[in-house]
This record gives sequence, C-alpha cells and structure tokens, in this order.
Amino acid sequence: DDAGILLRDHRRRLGTLSSAEPWHATEPASNWGAIDDTLFLTLVITGLFFVAIGLFVALALWRYRHRDGLRAHYEPENKRLEWWLIGITSVGIVGLLAPGLVIYNDFVRVPDDARVTEAVGQQWQWAFRFPGEDGKLGTSGIQWIGAANPLGINPGDPDGQDDIVVQGNELRLPVGRPVKLLLRSKDVLHNFYVPQLRAKMDLVPGMVSHFWFTPTETGRYEILCAEFCGVGHYSMRGRLLVEETSDFDRWLGEQPTFAALQSAQAQGRPADPLVERGRELARRHGCTACHSLDGSDSLGPGWRGLYGSRERLVDGSEVLVDEAYLRESILDPAARIVEGYSPVMTAYALDDDSLKALLALIRSLGEQPDRAAMAEEGRML
Ligand code: CUA
Repeated sequence: DDAGILLRDHRRRLGTLSSAEPWHATEPASNWGAIDDTLFLTLVITGLFFVAIGLFVALALWRYRHRDGLRAHYEPENKRLEWWLIGITSVGIVGLLAPGLVIYNDFVRVPDDARVTEAVGQQWQWAFRFPGEDGKLGTSGIQWIGAANPLGINPGDPDGQDDIVVQGNELRLPVGRPVKLLLRSKDVLHNFYVPQLRAKMDLVPGMVSHFWFTPTETGRYEILCAEFCGVGHYSMRGRLLVEETSDFDRWLGEQPTFAALQSAQAQGRPADPLVERGRELARRHGCTACHSLDGSDSLGPGWRGLYGSRERLVDGSEVLVDEAYLRESILDPAARIVEGYSPVMTAYALDDDSLKALLALIRSLGEQPDRAAMAEEGRML
C-alpha cells in the first residue's frame, strides 16, 4: 500500500544515518546550543504561571461555591490588584523575551571570518557550492543549466569559475569554523533545517537568504526541508557531514572546480543530436527534478546506469529496464512501480519522436549489460 511504500522510501533514504534517534531533542552541535536554555526558561516561566492560575481557579471555585444567601457583588475598581497584574505579566513577558533577543542579536550579526557557502534547493533535492581558491563565491549563484549538468555557474561570473559545486544532497563542513550559508531556491519555498544546529532558514525563490552557525561537533546529521514544498517534501532530505578541518580541506581539494568540470564535459561528450534533444526535453518537462542524472539519490530512479538494469517491482517481480519498460513508465508510470519508490509521477503523453529522444538520453547515461542474455550466450564468467 502507499503508506508502506512511503515508509520504505523513507528508510532507504535514511539508511546511512544513525538509527539511535533519541525520543527527546537531539544534542546541540552548533554555537546555538544556548537556545535550549531559553526553551527551558520559557518552560519554567509558563509552567509557574500555569500552576499559579490553576491553583487560583481551584481556590475561587471552592471559596465562592454556591451557598444559600450568598450573592456575587460587582467591584468596579481595584487599582492595587490591577497594578499587581500588570507588573507580574510585564515581568513575565520580558523574562520570556529577553534571552531570545540576546541570542537573536548574535544570530543577525555574521562574524567576519565566516566562510561563505551556498545551499540550493529545488523540488526535492539539495546542492551545495563552496568558494574556490580565490576564497570568494561567484555572485550569480548556482544555476540549472541543461539536463545533464543541471547545476552550473553563470559563465559570465568571474569569481564563480573556480567554485566547487556538489550535487547529491551532502554538505560537508569543517568543525569549529563559522559558516555563512547563503540559501537559494529554484522553484518554491523550502527551509534548511538541521535540528542539531538549532537554527533554520527559509529558501525563498527570487532572493538570497542566509544565516550563520559554527558546527561544534564532528558527525553526520540530517538536513530536513522544513517548509511544505510539494508531494516530495517528505523526501527532501540531505546529509550534513561535519569533519575535522584537515579532512575537510583534503576533500575540498580533491573536488574539481566548475571550470574544470565544464571543460572535461565539453571534451568528453560527442554531441549526438538525438541525445541532445532528449536532454532538452528532460529539462523542459522537468524530469530531472525527480530523476538524478549523476547517480545521486533522487525521488525517482536515477537515470545513470538504469538502462538494461534489472529492478525489483513493488509486487515482488523483476523487470528488465529495456525500451518497452521505459516507454510504459513514461506513458503510464503507475503501471509497474520499482520497489522503494512512491507512485507519485504523473503520466506524460509524449509522441514517439520525443520518447525516442528521451530513451536515447537515458541510454547514453550508462547501460547495464544484459546479464541474462549474456549467460544464455555463454559469455558470463
Ligand atoms: Cu523542500 Cu519541503
């Protein structure tokens, strides 16, 4: 049933994360741990008022219960009581507000040494960008340019050419270094939320929002989208990996810059007109919002290496992902769902030429050898 599929999908995505989730709030892992103290203070203050009001109501009920000959009387004014109530309420509200304002004052002042990093959200995945050797992020932000390399830097952005763009929903950060995280959305409102950071911020289409934090504990955390953003909202999850600075620097040094990636792609890929048309169609119809092209986790089956693979279906049977199955999956996605995925794709009534182009694109992204046929022909070792 649908709920079962959603749950399996959820578990598949969380497979790499810690299974020992506590029942209470997770331990803070950033400089915003003091927010827990304000929550506790709020609990104490509101708790005291809750008990005091409850006792007062109980006392009033008992003291003024119905008795023969006793009547209520109207008291038009009691200045002393009014001043007491105003005073206590004011102290309570200021007491609730003040610690939060102190923290908020820090929250809106980004430290000068904060490293600028960018997170981009789109339905329903994350991508990240780190400044290259010049230490500066390009100003134009990551853009979605075409289907095969959906993320890129505006070629006219000089600061951006040495930036490092990372797809696949994983953000790595060094421990102990303040981060100013720029947030952009391609499509709708999203929200970057890591519970252990004790901070979150909306991604708003058309503008760049930001917030800052210092990761204080190494470890692996879950990034959650905390703003309802469509049918795949529940699956818009990522990983935050906080590492020792030396490990982070080594990893970052191994990542190709955007310019290097682009020139490698330009050299390595002979242009096949049918594949290029497929790429254009995939972009126009938004296929790549749910199907990753680079093998990373996505809402639907990723296209890299899909052609020719054997997939288990939700009914337990197996299917060879050949042309016939891919055609059916586009025209009638609900017919045979691959296990671990949700039946959320709508049907696309494409003409035969468009289908051929899309199939050519999927095939160009890596083909699995047909193991069964090879075994039959005696070619398997
Ligand atoms: Cu993105 Cu919810």
